[in-house]
Amino acid sequence: MKALILSGGKGTRLRPLTYTGAKQLVPVANQPILWYAIQSIVAAGVTDIGIVISPETGEEVRTKTGDGKRFGANITYIRQEQPAGLAHAVKVSREFLQDSPFILYLGDNLIQNDLDWLLHKFQQQNLDALILLRQVPNPSAFGVALVDEQGRVLQLLEKPATPPSNLALVGVYFFAPTIHQAIASIQPSARGELEITDAIQALIHQGQTVEACQLEGWWLDTGKKDDLLEANRIILDTCLTTSIDGEVDAKTQILGRVQVDRGTRVINSTLRGPVIVGRNCHLENCFIGPYTSIADGVTLIDADLEHSVLLEGSRLVGIQQRIVDSVIGQRAHLWHAPRRPKALRFMIGDDSQIELI
Ligand code: DAU
Repeated sequence: MKALILSGGKGTRLRPLTYTGAKQLVPVANQPILWYAIQSIVAAGVTDIGIVISPETGEEVRTKTGDGKRFGANITYIRQEQPAGLAHAVKVSREFLQDSPFILYLGDNLIQNDLDWLLHKFQQQNLDALILLRQVPNPSAFGVALVDEQGRVLQLLEKPATPPSNLALVGVYFFAPTIHQAIASIQPSARGELEITDAIQALIHQGQTVEACQLEGWWLDTGKKDDLLEANRIILDTCLTTSIDGEVDAKTQILGRVQVDRGTRVINSTLRGPVIVGRNCHLENCFIGPYTSIADGVTLIDADLEHSVLLEGSRLVGIQQRIVDSVIGQRAHLWHAPRRPKALRFMIGDDSQIELI
């Protein structure tokens, strides 16, 4: 058994963060989203992992993630020249996959469920494909499945305008090598991509065994800001344990589950967990509220924030109002005049979103 994680693509929905970095490396609870997929695959006993990367962000993914030793895995990087679709990404990985069955994991997806029982079902029943479904309120944003009363998959459609059900395709799939013939039989969709959804539909047409499991646990497609904040909230809620390795002064109050990594100084502040603070940060006169992740090298002085994700090297100084539901990009600076300002002065990148509420 092998695994293929897709970490290419354009990441247009997380712009401007993804102008300078891969969306799969955006941190959730201070760890790149992609790493959760690797850990979950390794936990299911699969260690031969291929990661599909793009020419634009591939080097960053490779440098940050490495050869897999830190995860107990062996990682092979596969370059996809164009984001020509999920099935195209599988096609360009044929040399790595050979004729092995494999798990296909979309690098921007996070699921709560362990993969081992799904892998067991896939292998025991000798399936051609096992797909995962989850009820969602907005099925048109996903691949959608129509299933019969026995749970057999009848039809799959990619982002249909009028969805036949509210069951979305989760970005984790199990495939036998028969998927390669199915991929060879399909044409690019209206959006110009070779869709994995169409390849699975082709398997169904050919009478191969395709089964679906409905997930009850949470599933997050972190492609957009609010999904990213929600993933951050859930991971902090479920996985964070308290550890204070940095320096916290006597005037600081730590409430609930809080992690402060080494090299970080916290002065005269309140941290109300769940909160994670990375290495070499400086926090002074701050209130850091629940569900906040602060990456390495962040400076916060006279700042008040909650339910937010701050990326590496960002700097917030003298912000009187509480910052909520925000994602602050790497090395971004935000500061405030000491008195009520007469004017606001900005240098805001393309696709930024600033809401003064
Ligand atoms: O998240 C679940 C959904 O993922 C499914 O419901 C859909 O059926 C499936 O098509 C997919 O839709 P998205 O539009 O969300 O896929 P996206 O373009 O975001 O790509 C998913 C991941 O695969 C992302 O990490 C980027 C990577 N990718 C994408 C393409 C198109 C590649 O590595 N190569 C590609 O060519």
